[in-house]
Amino acid sequence: MNCYDYPQYWDLAFADETAQECEFLIQCAQKYITGDVNRVLEAGCGGGRLVVALAARGYDVTGYDLSETAIDYLRQRLENEGLQANAIVADMQSFVAVPLVDIAINTVSTFRHLLNEQAALAHLRVMAESIRSGGLYIIGMHLLPPDADLEDEESWEAKDDSAKVTMRLTVVEASRENRLEKLRFDMTVEDVASQERGPREFSSEYPMRLYSATQIQELFSLVSEFELIEVYDYWYDISEPQPLDDRLGDAVFVLHRR
Ligand SMILES: C[S@@+](CC[C@H](N)C(=O)[O-])C[C@H]1O[C@@H](n2cnc3c(N)ncnc32)[C@H](O)[C@@H]1O
Repeated sequence: MNCYDYPQYWDLAFADETAQECEFLIQCAQKYITGDVNRVLEAGCGGGRLVVALAARGYDVTGYDLSETAIDYLRQRLENEGLQANAIVADMQSFVAVPLVDIAINTVSTFRHLLNEQAALAHLRVMAESIRSGGLYIIGMHLLPPDADLEDEESWEAKDDSAKVTMRLTVVEASRENRLEKLRFDMTVEDVASQERGPREFSSEYPMRLYSATQIQELFSLVSEFELIEVYDYWYDISEPQPLDDRLGDAVFVLHRR
């Protein structure tokens, strides 16, 4: 069972973040980009909570994801809401946007699905081909500081009129040597429509690549088309850039396309 194939519940679980992430993208565009910002690209967009929110704000948005189910769901959602956006099944290692975009975003550790340096570099290079000179690539991801506990767990609840989702993330295995962790998502869903059946449980495990502050800096330095210009945390406060050091757990990198 793949939790990413239930985008309606995934999007609900992360719905509280969406407005803040959109606002941050807009503030970054204002702070760092000269000229018009119209075209936005999201890599690994899942069910498209950000694609929908950005399209509703008038941007020309493209979102792509490996999951056909997620992209079908996004297309349907766009149609239902009378919005226009491009929703494409594609791989982060090879997708190149045509025409060039002004700004691109990659949220909630999606980048860590690229499991080795070769894959991560391939992605950064196709993103460099997709973003215009002077544009930005914003990447949000969890870092593992060298002295942090390898085991980690967090959980939260989210609900709307149709469902309540309880999401629990647990690191079930991790190794600093091979730079991989196995992250388990446990999603408990109570649908208003299916209350008689009781809660449903979905669970899946994903391998994710681990990065310390130094390791991500080293990776970015290998792609000369991008310059890391500023770092934030998950508070998304544009007036409070953060130092990139081992105190930072959740990082948002702002890469400038040279
Ligand atoms: C953590 S979810 C994030 C979804 C969305 N960006 C959000 O913020 O809600 C990661 C997404 O990345 C997608 N994904 C994983 N590997 C991918 C790849 N190589 N190419 C494209 N999408 C990928 C998954 O299918 C999943 O939808």
